[in-house]
Amino acid sequence: MSAVLMHSQEGTPLHLIEKEYYANWLDSQPEHVKQWLLHSGYAGSGHTIIPATDGSIDSVLCVVESTEDFFVCGNLSSALPAGTYTPVSDLSDESLLALAFGWGVGAYRFDRYTEKSAVTAKLALNNEAIIEEARRLTEGTKRVRDLINTPASDMMPQNISSAVHSMADEFDAKVRDIVGSELLEQNYPMIHAVGRASEHDPRLIDMTWGDPDHPKVTLVGKGICFDSGGLNMKPGDSMRLMKKDMGGAAHTIGLAYLIMANKLPVRLRLLIPAAENAVSGNAFRPGDVIPTRKGLTVEIDNTDAEGRLVLCDALFEGASEKPDLMIDFATLTGACRVALGTDLPGFFTNQKQLAGDLMQAGEKISDPVWNLPLFRMYKEALHSEVADMVNSVPGPFGGAITAALYLEAFVEETPWVHFDVMAWNRRALRGKPVGGEAMGMRAMFEYLRQRYPN
Ligand code: BES
Ligand code: ZN
Ligand code: ZN
Repeated sequence: MSAVLMHSQEGTPLHLIEKEYYANWLDSQPEHVKQWLLHSGYAGSGHTIIPATDGSIDSVLCVVESTEDFFVCGNLSSALPAGTYTPVSDLSDESLLALAFGWGVGAYRFDRYTEKSAVTAKLALNNEAIIEEARRLTEGTKRVRDLINTPASDMMPQNISSAVHSMADEFDAKVRDIVGSELLEQNYPMIHAVGRASEHDPRLIDMTWGDPDHPKVTLVGKGICFDSGGLNMKPGDSMRLMKKDMGGAAHTIGLAYLIMANKLPVRLRLLIPAAENAVSGNAFRPGDVIPTRKGLTVEIDNTDAEGRLVLCDALFEGASEKPDLMIDFATLTGACRVALGTDLPGFFTNQKQLAGDLMQAGEKISDPVWNLPLFRMYKEALHSEVADMVNSVPGPFGGAITAALYLEAFVEETPWVHFDVMAWNRRALRGKPVGGEAMGMRAMFEYLRQRYPN
């Protein structure tokens, strides 16, 4: 993907114009350009190729609502013929970054299992810093998409672990895995309980990077490699996409990549509880009471509410170090999709100021996120008759909130953000093919970059 971005100033001219300036721009064009745009039926929006009088390509025109939208040019790299293109309009650095990012992510193909035609249209910018920044942002997005798109047969806990280990090698980070029965020995009973029915051992992947004296930022990602629902088995159509249930883990790997590649001055810790929610004679059951790392006992109301179970042990471990900020990403609830739809991730936080700053950061970088409330009145719904809590609340109401309140019980006073994400594009949009998607990752990164500048 980043091969389609070049540092150079040579290329076919690309006129990138906002709608409100199009009429002015058209006025200033030579007669043959005006005539071509008129007769070719160009509607004044989107891209079109402008031929030279000899039939070669003179330039490309692209009219957009806003050049600051990171996805507005997301279709150009796939739609244009082979060649190198360079913007000739007067664009701010923000708009150049948006253009380069859209160009790069638009070139994404998931071709691990079948050949896909490679993208041959390149973007040349005369600004190396922007090219490099766009390359890092596209690379982070590509890593998230690849991890999610890879089917569960090739993305079990050990495969997530390999991905983290190779990233750790890249950046000189340290990783330690706690695997299978070691989880019981080292007091991670919930991660073990959720994953024990699988052929593939559950594990907690624990990576650290950076100067120990820097502020601590801890990422926790839900790594359910496949969510069958367990004994409360999902119906087939709800199970169909559940290879994406490690999407939270993928987001935290992508975010860790961005933090390390940009050398943010933080001490980073990445915790991924990875497990398959499978069915077998030794699967955990509805009604079982299972202890947590924190010591609270949890009665299993529904084995399909497994994400919060693996997360609660990892979050409690994360909180024990008292980080400056702890961030989790999880494909946690269908309820959050009911509330906000599939393209807008919800987030919860116990930090008031952070909520507004994060939504602003998301808007700036075209990665919208929406704050939902930790509405404490609903906490009583997690009451159990036989244990300290239940893991889920039956019924159709407020499920994203009760899931977040469950997690909060394990985070205690730690400053914390919890993202409930879809991690999947259900339909193709500019620069966003059907399949795994990073949602909220760049928003969170932009927030962290502003808070911990280097
Ligand atoms: N992985 C699912 C949630 C999910 C489903 C996220 C579809 C995105 C799209 C999670 O483990 C789950 O099954 N949650 C249940 C919770 C319920 C049993 C309380 C849900 O949302 O139905
Ligand atoms: Zn589930
Ligand atoms: Zn799940």
